[in-house]
Parts: sequence; structure tokens; C-alpha cells
Amino acid sequence: MDITQVPAAGFEDVRRAVDPGSGLVAYIAVHDTTLGPALGGLRMWPYPDPGQGLSDVLRLAEGMTYKNAVARTGLGGGKAVIVGDPARDKSTALFHAMGRFVDAFAGRYITAEDVGTCVEDMRLLGAATPHVTGLPLEEGSSGDPSPHTALGVYLGIRATLAELTGSDSVRGRRVAIQGLGAVGAGVGRLLAAQGATLVVADLEPDRVERFLREAGGRAVAPEEVLAADCDVLSPCALGGVIRDETLPRLRCRAVAGAANNQLAEARHGVELARRGILYAPDFVINAGGVINIAVGLGPGGYDPERARRRVESVPEALREVYSEARSRGISTHESALRLARRNLEAGRRPAAARERRA
Ligand code: NAI
Repeated sequence: MDITQVPAAGFEDVRRAVDPGSGLVAYIAVHDTTLGPALGGLRMWPYPDPGQGLSDVLRLAEGMTYKNAVARTGLGGGKAVIVGDPARDKSTALFHAMGRFVDAFAGRYITAEDVGTCVEDMRLLGAATPHVTGLPLEEGSSGDPSPHTALGVYLGIRATLAELTGSDSVRGRRVAIQGLGAVGAGVGRLLAAQGATLVVADLEPDRVERFLREAGGRAVAPEEVLAADCDVLSPCALGGVIRDETLPRLRCRAVAGAANNQLAEARHGVELARRGILYAPDFVINAGGVINIAVGLGPGGYDPERARRRVESVPEALREVYSEARSRGISTHESALRLARRNLEAGRRPAAARERRA
């Protein structure tokens, strides 16, 4: 396997691996390990060219630094991508090679599932490196992060309603959910159990039917859900949903969902604020999954009760973000970035002091 360094300003360590034997073409980006080893999932996606895989891994790794910093997980930010089609290109040899690539970082990067990869892939990868998480609970790992992400998003929606209306009750509130996958359906079930009125959409009709049978609500076409008249729009599908073309169609009072990178660009966060729509920054509200993983990596190993208590801190972080955005007159996205940078700075100070003493 050929591993080469990729220069990337602002990143600690970015490398490309090419392994002709298994067909692996992959990138790992370690953005920042000030607060601990870099944690971020492994994405497998048929990028039309490797350069797009590189820009994706950089953007996602940086996002993980901010998510971990705000959630105080004691972890840094990193990410990995395999350039390939998850439906066609998976093999045992490919994931063994990827495991060796992860291992080359000697624990400074820890991997897990992401879009296009699953538990079985992590098992294969784990044959070549111990630096993998997201394996089943019965194997001593922290299990599926999705229910924890869903709980954090649900609690975050309540904190967002409290900021808007003074009450965190979801009873009778209208919430539109885009995407009924592992997280979106979980958020929907928690909301329905507390009396929220749901409007839902998914590209897969089976998922919609199953959800309506279990939790109730009204289905709309996927292209209509962003324009639903509601209190909270909860994007739980893919990123980039808040952009120039979608902004004028929004009829919600708040945006609060699980998807990563909901804003196409940071300026769309400012535009939401200008339109009076409260935005729950994605990397703050969707941190339940990494919080759960961090508990599994911490002293004493995984404990579901401790994980649950830690996920319950998501609304606290959001309240801090909202309060600073209000007092400084900045967007909530900007305010969340400021909180992340403050936590990083606080982590840097003891390290700098140690170096000065040495
Ligand atoms: P998933 O793959 O289980 O579900 C995504 C769902 O969205 C699928 O049912 C898909 O059919 C649907 N979908 C895709 N495009 C759509 C569209 N245009 N309109 C309506 N539905 C659409 O994924 P999962 O795990 O539920 O994650 C959802 C989002 O949350 C992703 O963006 C993911 O990156 C993010 N996230 C997930 C975490 C986790 O713990 N699973 C943690 C943090 C973020």
C-alpha cells in the first residue's frame, strides 16, 4: 500500500492511501487533536474523482473538531473516506487494507461507521487495527449511535421551542421531518409520544408507511417537506438543505435536525436569522452519537446510563449558543463556532503551559 502525505493548511495530518491489490483509494484527515484523538466516521461514496473525496474528508473532519469541542467529549476531529461505490466495490481485502491505513495513524485517528459503511465493514477493518468503534454492545463497544443522536435532537427541539416561545412543550407543535432513517424516525417517535403533530417525508415509501403505522402523522412528497407550514423543520436526511433556492420556500419558525452540514454555506445561517428563523446548529444538536461513542472510549468503558445523562447536555449547549447569538446579534451558527473555538482554546492553554514548564 502506498501512503502519501497531502498538504492541507490548518490540518494536522492528511494522507492518501492507494492499494492496487484491493482497489483501495482512500483519505484520512486529522484536523485537530488538541482535545484528544480524532474521532470521525468512514464514508464510502462513489465520488466522480478522488479530488472530491479529498474536499469532502477535509470539510467533514473540521466539522468533527467543532462537534467534539462543543460536546466536550475529550476527542478531536477527523474523518476518513473511501472513493468507491458501496453497492459494488466492497470486499474483505478492501476493508483489511483500510484497517491498515487507519492503523498507520497509531491511534491519533479512530474510525466508525458513516454514510455507505456498516457494522460488518467495521468488523473487517478491526482485523487490522484496534482503533475502531461503533461495534455492537455485545462485543464491548458502544453500539449503534443513532438512538442517542435521536434523543439529543429531540431534546434540542424542545430547547429550541423554549427559546422561541418560552415553553419547551412539544404538545400540539407542528414538526416537519425530512428523512425517516435511523435518526429521523427515532426523533419522530419521541415527538409523537409527547403529542407533537408531525408532517413527514422520505424517498422510500416503505419507510413512510411503517412510520405512519407506528407513530401517526401526515405524509407529504419529499420535494414538499421543506415548504411545510410548521413550527420546526427537522432535516434528518442529507446536508446542504438550507441554500439559496430553498430559503424563500421555508415556512417554519425554526430549523432543528440531525443532518450534518445543513447550511450550504455559512452565509445561509445569517440569512435564516434575517428571516427570523431560529437555527439549531447541526454540530451542536446532533452530537448525541459522538457523545455515546466517547463514553465507550472513556475510563470504565461503556455505560448506557452515563451515555444518556451525557446526551442530556445537548440542550444546555444549545441554550448557551442561543444566548450568545442573542446578546451579540450574531447568527447561531457563528455563535456555535465561537463556543467550539473557546473550548479548543481552553484545551490548548494547559498543553501550552506544560510545554513552557518542560
Ligand atoms: P439513514 O441513512 O438511516 O436515513 C436517511 C433517510 O433520509 C433515508 O431513509 C433516506 O431515504 C432519506 N432521504 C434521503 N434524501 C431524502 C430527501 N431528499 N427527502 C426525504 N428523505 C430523504 O441516516 P441516519 O443515520 O438516520 O442519519 C440522518 C442524517 O443525520 C445524516 O445526514 C447523517 O449524516 C446525520 N447524522 C447521523 C448520526 C447517527 O448517529 N446516525 C449522527 C450525526 C449525524
